[in-house]
Amino acid sequence: MTSNTVEIFDEDVRQRAREILARYPADRTRSALLPLLHLVQSVEGHVSPAGVEFCADVLGINKAQVGAVASFYTMYKRRPTGDYLVSVCTNTMCNVLGGQEVYDRLSEHLGVGHDETTEDGTITLEHAECLAACDYGPVLTVNYDFFDNVDPDTAVGLVEELRAGRRPQPSRGARLCTLKEMSLQLAGFPDTREGAVADGVPGEPTLRGLRLAQEHGIAVPGFDPNTPIKKKDDGASGQPATAAGAAAQPATAAGAAAQPATAAGAAANKPASDAKPAGDAPKPQEGTLRGAKEEAK
Ligand code: FES
Repeated sequence: MTSNTVEIFDEDVRQRAREILARYPADRTRSALLPLLHLVQSVEGHVSPAGVEFCADVLGINKAQVGAVASFYTMYKRRPTGDYLVSVCTNTMCNVLGGQEVYDRLSEHLGVGHDETTEDGTITLEHAECLAACDYGPVLTVNYDFFDNVDPDTAVGLVEELRAGRRPQPSRGARLCTLKEMSLQLAGFPDTREGAVADGVPGEPTLRGLRLAQEHGIAVPGFDPNTPIKKKDDGASGQPATAAGAAAQPATAAGAAAQPATAAGAAANKPASDAKPAGDAPKPQEGTLRGAKEEAK
């Protein structure tokens, strides 16, 4: 580890890195790379070359291996990032509801484009793909906390509050925190501030599908949401829990067609009329099976 890296990542950070590693079996510590990257981001606000070197050193792998992972996931920022990462969903659903207008207005107001940071270092703006809250579109997130049903004016008001040093309350979930604080949580260290962790209840737009199903008597007979997930070693009758096990099951649409294809079909407990025997399913390609074979070794 170079002296620069030692200086940036002090003993507290190294202790946290050891705690992260201890969560994994001794021969699987490479899996700790994702939380380790969040940990280094919690120190510098992004994953710098020193952060990459730190992770490589802790895990005993090379910097190219760390860099390959860090550059793959958009949640790891490779350049200095603002205290507040504002992600505006411009994917299909939000877009038809005005998401692009929200992004354009913010971009104009802040004077920055995608993945750029305001001069005062407060806000980084980015386009985001579906943020999995289409029922509240258009949505944006600030450090991954949701603000629902925004429009250009409310979005500008929000970033102005952030620049003024205030932390507006997200539509759902916990209090806002900075990107560094959020990164520490993502590394697996709880935020102990009062109100920093919270559960929300599902809103009416989220429950709409459930209400319609209830209204029309659609249900899956005998389904118990608390059914435990069986493991590989649970015996021959258990369902496969791994990719290796899954390879033994039909993995194609044709195979799936042997099961009831709709909730209504399941309720009638009859196979779909166009169901084909599982044996008709085309064989998976070699590339599809490679991971399963590796795991089975
Ligand atoms: S399209 Fe915006 S949250 Fe899904």
